[in-house]
Amino acid sequence: MSKQVQNARITVPQIRARKGTDKIVCLTAYSTRMAELLDPHCDILLVGDSVGMVVHGLPNPVGVTLEMMLLHGKAVMRGSRRALVIVDLPFGSYERGPDHAFRTASKVMRKTGCQAVKVEAAEGVPESISFLASRGIPVMGHIGLRPQATNVDGGFKAKGRTLAERARVLAEARAVDEAGAFAILVEGVAPDLAEEITAAVKAPTIGIGASVGCDGQILVIDDMLGMFDWTPKFVRRYADLGNVVSQAASQYANDVRTGRFPAEAELYKLRTE
Ligand code: KIV
Repeated sequence: MSKQVQNARITVPQIRARKGTDKIVCLTAYSTRMAELLDPHCDILLVGDSVGMVVHGLPNPVGVTLEMMLLHGKAVMRGSRRALVIVDLPFGSYERGPDHAFRTASKVMRKTGCQAVKVEAAEGVPESISFLASRGIPVMGHIGLRPQATNVDGGFKAKGRTLAERARVLAEARAVDEAGAFAILVEGVAPDLAEEITAAVKAPTIGIGASVGCDGQILVIDDMLGMFDWTPKFVRRYADLGNVVSQAASQYANDVRTGRFPAEAELYKLRTE
C-alpha cells in the first residue's frame, strides 16, 4: 500500500504561475541554520555556487566541486521545509551535453532532495535544459553575467553594454525559455534589457543587479547581511553582521585575556562536591 506524502514546499508550477503577478522572493543559502532562518520569508532558496567565494574563500566559482554542492544542498534541505530549493550545477559538471547534465542533475536531486537545479546558459546548454525538463528535472537558466565564464570574460563583467551584446543576452534568454527552463536568473544587465527580457519570455525572471521590473529578486545572503567589507553597488545591506561578529569576537578575546570569562559563578555548578 502506498502512502501519500504531503509536500508542504512551494512547487515549480506555483513559481511559474507567479509570472507577472506576485514578486518572487529568493536568497542564497548554504547552511542548515541559515536555511531555517530564511525559509519562512523566501519562495526560493538557491544553494548557489557562490558558496565557493562566500564560504570557502575562492576567487570565483570555477573551483567549486560537485561534492561541495551536495554537502551544502543537503544542509539547506535539512533546514528548510517551505521554500523551493534549487542547487547549482558546478562548473565542469554538465557542459558536455544532455547525458552529462542528466547524470549530474539526477545525482544532485537524488542525494540532496532538492526540487530543481540551475545551470548557466553557455553554448549548447539549452539542449540540455530541454533534455532534463522533459525527464523530470526542473531547471533554472542563468543568463547575462555568468560567473562560471569569468575567465573568458576577464572578470565579473556586466552585460549588454553594446547593441551586439544586448542581442546576445536576449537570444540567450529566448533559447533558455524555449528549452523549457521554469525560471530565468538574469544577472548584471542594464535595467531596460532586463525588462525587455522579462516581457519576451514565458518563464518568470529573477533579477540580481538587473531591474525592479523582473518577476522576482535574489541576493547572495552574506552580501545582504553585510558580512563583507565590499559588496557590489546594487546590493542593499539589510544588516551589518560583519561588524557584529567582529565586535563580539573582540569582546570575548578581551574577557578571556582579563580573566572575566569564564565567570566563577558560571563554573561553580560544574564543581564536584
Ligand atoms: O551562485 C549564486 O549565488 C548565484 C547568484 C547570482 C544568486 O547564482
